Amino acid sequence: MIVEKTIESSQVLLREWRQAGMSIALVPTMGFFHAGHLALMKKAGEVSDKVVVSLFVNPTQFGPHEDFDLYPQDFAGDCLKAEQAGVDLIFSPDAGMMYNQNHETSVSVHELTKGLCGRDRPEHFKGVTTVVAKLFNIIQPDYALFGEKDFQQLVVIMRMVSDLNFPVKIGGHPIVREDDGIAMSSRNAYLSSAERTSACVLYKAMQATRESVLKSAENRTVSELISWAKALISEEKNCSLEYFSIVDEDSLQECDEIKGQCRAIGAIRVNQKIRLIDNIALY
Ligand code: PAJ
Repeated sequence: MIVEKTIESSQVLLREWRQAGMSIALVPTMGFFHAGHLALMKKAGEVSDKVVVSLFVNPTQFGPHEDFDLYPQDFAGDCLKAEQAGVDLIFSPDAGMMYNQNHETSVSVHELTKGLCGRDRPEHFKGVTTVVAKLFNIIQPDYALFGEKDFQQLVVIMRMVSDLNFPVKIGGHPIVREDDGIAMSSRNAYLSSAERTSACVLYKAMQATRESVLKSAENRTVSELISWAKALISEEKNCSLEYFSIVDEDSLQECDEIKGQCRAIGAIRVNQKIRLIDNIALY
């Protein structure tokens, strides 16, 4: 596995691979790898000849009071894990290389980013789409893989790719979970063991919503399902709810009834500071 820290040196290698007729898959990440990231890397190896992982903690997707400075990092550990997952190149630029002093261009997807996580993090998705657009231009991958854990991010990126005609195929990957059901996340590293136990309530609420929908005999309305899930989360000590919604998977609009491909999606804060997200298909 090769590690490159500059755009130019990465592009020399990428050009060689492309000239040899090889296909390239990109997995964009912010590092501190867990089994969720590694599953994306393995899937990338199944769909293409070469796997590139970008490792860049992107400052523009963090709000002013968010955890950019504290975001967990383990570069050496990440390199070992990525190599074992079959990655060919880690592209790990610094912030000055990605955003030079005169940088003033951004990419925004407007409607899909207004609700859900976008309501509490108004600049977040603009930071994500801008950095992902830059990575697509730098790496020029045939495929790019994203996790369903960040479901809104996946839908937003698919819309950006379609609207701006990026020549890249986007693949999603199901959420990889811990044994207790909590979605794997780099931010789980912040949780104490008591907080970790409390944090499971988000998955429990997701899972119970899915079970209720699949048992069609219960026939609960969308607002009953949401009220019940919100009540469960609000009873959990240390946890506060940011949002819990049931949305159509393509439009991310709230559903009036459970019909077609709906998804429960939510975010909580544990002890005010640690923000966790999750979602589940209701079909
Ligand atoms: P990061 O949080 O590091 O996640 C990198 C990729 O791993 C994303 O596509 C995310 O959805 C996926 N992922 C994280 N946890 C997962 C899990 N438990 N199961 C499956 N996939 C999981 O998402 C970002 O970075 C950034 O926003 C980025 C796209 C890199 C832009 O900066």
